[in-house]
Amino acid sequence: MLKIIEKHRQDFDSRIRSTSTPEHLKQLRIDFLGKKGCVQALMKDLRQATPEEKRQLGKLINDFKQYVENLLSEKEEGLGKSSKDQSSKGESFDTTLPGKKETTGTLHPITQVMEEIKTIFLGLGFQVEEGPEIETDYYNFEALNIPKDHPARDMQDTFYVDGDAVLRTHTSPVQIHVMENREPPLRIIAPGKVYRCDSDVSHTPMFHQIEGLMVDENVSFSHLKGIMSIFLQEVFGKETKVRFRPSFFPFTCPSAEVDIQCVICRGKGCRVCSQTGWVEILGAGMVDPAVFKCVDYDSEKWTGFAFGLGIERISMLKYGINDIRLFFENDLRFLKQF
Ligand code: PHE
Repeated sequence: MLKIIEKHRQDFDSRIRSTSTPEHLKQLRIDFLGKKGCVQALMKDLRQATPEEKRQLGKLINDFKQYVENLLSEKEEGLGKSSKDQSSKGESFDTTLPGKKETTGTLHPITQVMEEIKTIFLGLGFQVEEGPEIETDYYNFEALNIPKDHPARDMQDTFYVDGDAVLRTHTSPVQIHVMENREPPLRIIAPGKVYRCDSDVSHTPMFHQIEGLMVDENVSFSHLKGIMSIFLQEVFGKETKVRFRPSFFPFTCPSAEVDIQCVICRGKGCRVCSQTGWVEILGAGMVDPAVFKCVDYDSEKWTGFAFGLGIERISMLKYGINDIRLFFENDLRFLKQF
């Protein structure tokens, strides 16, 4: 019997060594541990043995059974793993290769400046509003006191969409939407995209503006001056000088163009400021009573100011950028600097 066990062990060893598929392994388990397998056969033979032999041989058979079981489950585990690896990858891979580095993006400089300006005005009690980028002639022009044949329409080279619809040429129509839907007092800013048929180093067909509007009792030009000065000094530095020049917009009266002392030469005169020491930064003025009339506001009771500024222009001055098109070329060497 001892010899038979030893023979089975050798037989098992050689078969398990040459087993490479789960099917073969299953057969091996049946042959050795199954009901009609050799371990059961050994047990059967044991019945004829004396009690003393039963004790000794029984232990040997059990040891053999345990041995077979251990090796079978070890091999099963090994085969299972490698078949999973192969089916999921189809190939082996080099675990020592360095990983691929994920690059994280940053906010576009225009978005960053926009957020900065929003934060300043939120701190001054303004709320953020939005309006549509496709407007009707009424909102973009008419309600802002720019009638059909008014020469001021030429200032803004309009993209006409269809019939009465235009791509808004400025964010000022948001003023009308807000005043139509709300009663004073109000203090809003409206950031967004605007469109003009124009393209060179300082113009792109799409650019960004922020509109501002404050309406209340007794709002005067000095409020406008105060708010604009606080805002511009926040963006360009406390020591920045601000000046107001008389100008014209159909929807404000009086109107002004606001300049800051040139941030490049600090007022000495350079190419950026055409040797004047000043650069134009935004348009503003007191809301024209004709506009209040369109939205049914009583201009005897309410007064207000409005302003509009280009984000690209502010960003170019802030960062010393000389070509507006750089913002939209999506060249990472440019964008990564902000
Ligand atoms: N909408 C004007 C422009 O785009 C700017 C502006 C807004 C001027 C509000 C005065 C008041 O040029």
